[in-house]
Amino acid sequence: MCGIIGYIGTEEASPILCQGLKNLEYRGYDSVGMATVSGGLEIRKGVGKIDDLRCRLNFEEIPGHIGIGHTRWATHGTVSFENAHPHADCTKKIAIIHNGIIENSDRLREALLKRGHEFAGDTDSEVIAHLIEDRLNGFPGQRGAGDGEPGTGSFDNGFFETACLDAFRLLRGSYAILAIKEGEDKIVGIRKDSPLVLGLADHGTFFASDVSPFLEWTKKVVYLQNYDFVVADGKGVKFYNLLQGEVSRPVDTVEWSMEEASRGKFEHFMLKEISEQADTIQRALQQDGDVIERIVDEVKKGFGVFFVGCGSSYHACLTGTYLLSKVAGVHVNAVLASEFENYEHFLTEDTLVFAVSQSGETADVLDAVKAARRKKSKIIGITNVMGSSLSREGDELMMMNAGPEICVLSTKTYTSQAMLMALMAYALCDKHEECVQKAKDLYMDVYNLTSKSMRVRLKDLAKELVHKEHIYMIGRGLQYTTALEAALKIKEVSYIHTEAFAGGELKHGPLALVEKGTPVFVFVSRDNEDRIVANAQEVKARGGYVIGVSDWNHRVFDRWIKVPECGDLNPIIQAIPMQILAYELAVQRGLDPDKPRNLAKSVTVL
Ligand code: AGP
Repeated sequence: MCGIIGYIGTEEASPILCQGLKNLEYRGYDSVGMATVSGGLEIRKGVGKIDDLRCRLNFEEIPGHIGIGHTRWATHGTVSFENAHPHADCTKKIAIIHNGIIENSDRLREALLKRGHEFAGDTDSEVIAHLIEDRLNGFPGQRGAGDGEPGTGSFDNGFFETACLDAFRLLRGSYAILAIKEGEDKIVGIRKDSPLVLGLADHGTFFASDVSPFLEWTKKVVYLQNYDFVVADGKGVKFYNLLQGEVSRPVDTVEWSMEEASRGKFEHFMLKEISEQADTIQRALQQDGDVIERIVDEVKKGFGVFFVGCGSSYHACLTGTYLLSKVAGVHVNAVLASEFENYEHFLTEDTLVFAVSQSGETADVLDAVKAARRKKSKIIGITNVMGSSLSREGDELMMMNAGPEICVLSTKTYTSQAMLMALMAYALCDKHEECVQKAKDLYMDVYNLTSKSMRVRLKDLAKELVHKEHIYMIGRGLQYTTALEAALKIKEVSYIHTEAFAGGELKHGPLALVEKGTPVFVFVSRDNEDRIVANAQEVKARGGYVIGVSDWNHRVFDRWIKVPECGDLNPIIQAIPMQILAYELAVQRGLDPDKPRNLAKSVTVL
């Protein structure tokens, strides 16, 4: 939920860190800070976004060829100067940045306070800097202070990195940490359950939460594994794993281009990523036939099959259960990843769990994977980020091929996931080619829906809704899952309270919410038209303002968003105008669609 970056090389670090933090800002943007070593250690940080602070604090002028930077999404501790990263130790000679949660930080802090350490803020992360200081000063590691991670052997290197390693061993929880120290020409890093990758450029080494900060410098990447401890200095990079000892890691090549990870001519990433869907939906179909075949076999063999995800990925999971039932007659359970632990009791080695996560780093999903692993269930990963934790967890892996999604909102990755669900459903009844053809037929429809003319029409509708306090959405079957996804888009980017219900549920309570002028979106498809239109009539009869999403106008509609009827692929086609409407609502409310308040792109904490 935070973005971290480090650089050590021949170039000045601060301009590189600034640009890198800009690319990482989608991961969190409450506060920003940097630290460099140039003889002494210098830390500059503050509350706000990178663009404000880089001027206010002259970030680019901080000297040094070694530096670390952090953009924060607050978990422990309020948004404040003291809680902004980097954090320093008592001597102000050590600086650390951290992404994740240190679960035993209270006990560690207590032990450190007893030994006279003074803390500036109230984050969990700050204990890391003081722990390193403690170890450097030769204090025995307080085993009692933290029932830290297991570890074998010793790391024969300099005092600083050894002190870091000993300190890190005391930590429990999730962490991607970078540490630097005055007088030390190196960066020390470690990761566990929070992402950390290395970028290897000719002029230096990068550490980062993902590849976006260094793509313009290099495509050579090393994806670190859990418990990898790394020391980068002027001579190169050393890898050590807390559980395995000395290790080496392969150098991969990033498939994404800088252009793909940049905004280009678009005002916001959200608009750019919505506009890419005509192509990304097709790219979702580019799957290894052997993998599809093995997955189909696993589903058929599975005794209990689960689709597990969060947010939009969960909506894709729910869509998947409807599609596999409708198209292939296969029973799959969709479960919110954060609730999956409640199902652990009956999982077996015959259970099959699909873990669905665009970022591949969502802590709830990774936690669900661990629960499934405990019961020796099979795991199939569906993700968009090669090298992410999830991309390495599964027994099988399906990549979404949607390219980088920078906007906090999932748009193109949601429709890619829905496409993959349809592909699986059709493959399960040997109609893989039919699905591919249906998707190809969708190309022009999606292209037209993401065109300027559609935006103009939706801009007008947004004007009608922009001051509404509540918006409701109803649908049945695949249109119900679409209503859920549409409601999430609008609420998370425009802050308008938006809620979706199954059409049949309306009369069991939610109808009480409808009064004169209440906007209610009705998602309609041919195969359940009569019942959902009847629900729309119930809304109309109470004065509700009915906005139809369908391929033909109904007299019950007050407004109509025309979309082609695409049967099983309706979840894809009907989501797109709702993404655009959400975008227009945010813009008309003067909000930043790419970085909604309180949210982050990848929720790497439980
Ligand atoms: C959706 O627009 C949000 N960005 C959020 O609900 C997101 O879908 C959820 O956090 C899951 O993210 P993931 O797909 O990276 O796991």
